[in-house]
Amino acid sequence: MQIKKLLPLALATAASAQETMNLTAALASSPELSQLGITLGLVPELVAALAELSNITLLAPSNAAFEEFTNSSNAAALSDPGLIQAVLQYHVLNGTYYAQNVTETTSFIPTTLMNTSYTNVTGGQVVKAVLTGDNVVFSSGLLTNSTVTQADVTFDSGVIHIIDRLLTVPANVSTTAVAANLTSLVGAVTTAELAEAVDTTPNVTIFAPTNEAFQSIGSALGSISTEDLASILTYHVVSGTVGYSSILSNTTLTTLNDADVTISIVDGAVFVNSARVVMADVLVANGVVHVIDNVLNPANATATPDATMSTQMPAFSGASSASEVPYTSNVPTPTGPAATGGAAGGSETSSSASGAAMPMRTGAVGAAALFGGAALVYNM
Ligand SMILES: *[C@@H]1O[C@H](CO)[C@@H](O)[C@H](O)[C@H]1NC(C)=O
Ligand SMILES: *[C@@H]1O[C@H](CO)[C@@H](O)[C@H](O)[C@H]1NC(C)=O
Ligand SMILES: *[C@@H]1O[C@H](CO)[C@@H](O)[C@H](O)[C@H]1NC(C)=O
Ligand SMILES: *[C@@H]1O[C@H](CO)[C@@H](O)[C@H](O)[C@H]1NC(C)=O
Ligand SMILES: *[C@@H]1O[C@H](CO)[C@@H](O)[C@H](O)[C@H]1NC(C)=O
Ligand SMILES: *[C@@H]1O[C@H](CO)[C@@H](O)[C@H](O)[C@H]1NC(C)=O
Ligand SMILES: *[C@@H]1O[C@H](CO)[C@@H](O)[C@H](O)[C@H]1NC(C)=O
Ligand SMILES: *[C@@H]1O[C@H](CO)[C@@H](O)[C@H](O)[C@H]1NC(C)=O
Ligand SMILES: *[C@@H]1O[C@H](CO)[C@@H](O)[C@H](O)[C@H]1NC(C)=O
Ligand SMILES: *[C@@H]1O[C@H](CO)[C@@H](O)[C@H](O)[C@H]1NC(C)=O
Ligand SMILES: *[C@@H]1O[C@H](CO)[C@@H](O)[C@H](O)[C@H]1NC(C)=O
Ligand SMILES: *[C@@H]1O[C@H](CO)[C@@H](O)[C@H](O)[C@H]1NC(C)=O
Repeated sequence: MQIKKLLPLALATAASAQETMNLTAALASSPELSQLGITLGLVPELVAALAELSNITLLAPSNAAFEEFTNSSNAAALSDPGLIQAVLQYHVLNGTYYAQNVTETTSFIPTTLMNTSYTNVTGGQVVKAVLTGDNVVFSSGLLTNSTVTQADVTFDSGVIHIIDRLLTVPANVSTTAVAANLTSLVGAVTTAELAEAVDTTPNVTIFAPTNEAFQSIGSALGSISTEDLASILTYHVVSGTVGYSSILSNTTLTTLNDADVTISIVDGAVFVNSARVVMADVLVANGVVHVIDNVLNPANATATPDATMSTQMPAFSGASSASEVPYTSNVPTPTGPAATGGAAGGSETSSSASGAAMPMRTGAVGAAALFGGAALVYNM
């Protein structure tokens, strides 16, 4: 069994040896990491590949983190070596990041997960890193937060941080949007037959209106043609730029609709045309989603925000609110692991200043989506 090779009974001893410990020895030196060792033992070719790398950071889930996951009904996914490999690759950051490198300014660090079965963020899917109070927190798909419980275990190729929860490989846009209760958007995208494009176009930035945003312009959507709906929706997608909040500035971005949106940052608040970003940086398989409080109107590209107002005027003149949330009858039903739920969503770390106006539904989808895009199949 591989695990014997990984975790020799003769554990690394002398503290002075720490500087030069290899990965095997470093893992063996912490009893907290035995389950990670077992899991790595399931994918020996990945272990071999890791041994060749230098300048990496391993986010190492503790035994308790693995227990939380394996308690979920998705534990069966651990029988798929391809999925295990992808999940573990996502736990390896490209570069040596010590705890002191993580600051209160959110950063986005590329990982070694590049397999296009799981990500279409070229250059490696990222994790979000932020210092929250005294905690170093790494956020992943579905806003899953993993907190470092033991930092800066050095080894010969970089550094290891022990984390209290497995990272969630970012799921595709549709799955993530359903988990975030953005069901009107998902229904609209399905109605316009844009789901596949939105889910698989590489390197996207998506501005995702809330259900309330769609409802507030319900009258304008009532009799709209599929072409006009598609024109509105493609105006919410920027391709070729993964616009994490860390790189957004006052600028214009060209959307899939070919028309530009204007990004403006006023006192730290981010606006897209006149819409306010109410939840930034939701990582998805092919880029990043920012949730906004208004539907963008390609025929009203000059709409500007009034930053003193907590809510903005709809960008569709004359539109009035509908009694129902539009398009929600057209949300596809997830099948596969996502539908079976799980338990690894759990409680979360203390929240930071970066505004999460709309909490994610935790629990069922969180664990299920660990294995992201590939494992989740929609009935279309
Ligand atoms: C890692 O270090 C241990 C202890 O020093 C050694 O026994 C083992 O052969 C090393 N493994 C590799 C792959 O170099
Ligand atoms: C996992 O399940 C076992 C048995 O039901 C329970 O004792 C344990 O507390 C659970 N662990 C976690 C982290 O949920
Ligand atoms: C990418 O993932 C797929 C599905 O798990 C797997 O079959 C394939 O071997 C992986 N590719 C690489 C280069 O690891
Ligand atoms: C380590 O990786 C980081 C991030 O990719 C890079 O900036 C740095 O130059 C690398 N350092 C070495 C010594 O390779
Ligand atoms: C981490 O911080 C140290 C000291 O400030 C710096 O030299 C190093 O480049 C940083 N590493 C990365 C990957 O940013
Ligand atoms: C790390 O990133 C550099 C570019 O910054 C890239 O050349 C290298 O292949 C990446 N390494 C891994 C292991 O992903
Ligand atoms: C990445 O893009 C390819 C081609 O467009 C697609 O087949 C694949 O499903 C996408 N991967 C994910 C995780 O969405
Ligand atoms: C999801 O959206 C619907 C419709 O806007 C709303 O009634 C419901 O309360 C929302 N659920 C959550 C968990 O936010
Ligand atoms: C995706 O973005 C990365 C990083 O910005 C870039 O290097 C790459 O060329 C882009 N790929 C595509 C297909 O747009
Ligand atoms: C960005 O644009 C906003 C609104 O137009 C303005 O208030 C702000 O000062 C600009 N910021 C920078 C750095 O130019
Ligand atoms: C454009 O948006 C503004 C709100 O930012 C709204 O007041 C105006 O009526 C809209 N114009 C059109 C033509 O929809
Ligand atoms: C993770 O932490 C952020 C703030 O640090 C918070 O906004 C978010 O809701 C948390 N995620 C979950 C799933 O609770």
